[in-house]
Amino acid sequence: MSVRRAVVADAGELARLRQLSLTCPAVPWTRPREVLDGPWVEECQEAIATMLRDQNAVAAFVVDVGPGHIGACAMGLLLPRLPGPSSGKPFNGDISTVATDLEFRGRGYARAVVTALMDWMVASGCKGISLASSPEGEPLYASLGFAYDDPRMSWRAR
Ligand SMILES: CC(C)(COP(=O)(O)OP(=O)(O)OC[C@H]1O[C@@H](n2cnc3c(N)ncnc32)[C@H](O)[C@@H]1OP(=O)(O)O)[C@@H](O)C(=O)NCCC(=O)NCCS
Repeated sequence: MSVRRAVVADAGELARLRQLSLTCPAVPWTRPREVLDGPWVEECQEAIATMLRDQNAVAAFVVDVGPGHIGACAMGLLLPRLPGPSSGKPFNGDISTVATDLEFRGRGYARAVVTALMDWMVASGCKGISLASSPEGEPLYASLGFAYDDPRMSWRAR
């Protein structure tokens, strides 16, 4: 298996895998969600292509499993942060869209792409990295040192 950094031409496969990643069970984490096709998938592909053009702020790492077929991916953004007394590092990292195609699970692909993404984020100057885990992803993230960060609050537009 080899891991490579994604390029703009991978946006279609990354959008497909984003759709797959969204099927993970939602709170209360009972059963997989149905994620419908729709214009959002194409919009997502376009958004990913645009984001991947900014190699300094966004990266995705992938494992190829065939011509034009990506078997696993992890995508992440660098979010600027202000210096504070404990760190002057310029970014926090945000990981999203971690998914492995069903037939390629359990081979270490997700670990490989997430680790490559984390290495890139740390080398880019991230103080911390956050993500929203699924139950399927939790053992992987826990083994890589992620822990729940209770005091944070968040807001969602409806
Ligand atoms: C979570 C997911 C990305 C893992 O992909 P994967 O390529 O199978 O993962 P890996 O083979 O790299 O395994 C990573 C770790 O996950 C855990 N894991 C993987 N398969 C497992 C299984 N069948 N049972 C229990 N734990 C398992 C193990 O802790 C494993 O660590 P190891 O390297 O010590 O064995 C994949 O199941 C997936 O795409 N799920 C749907 C989308 C999703 O939930 N994405 C994460 C959202 S944050």
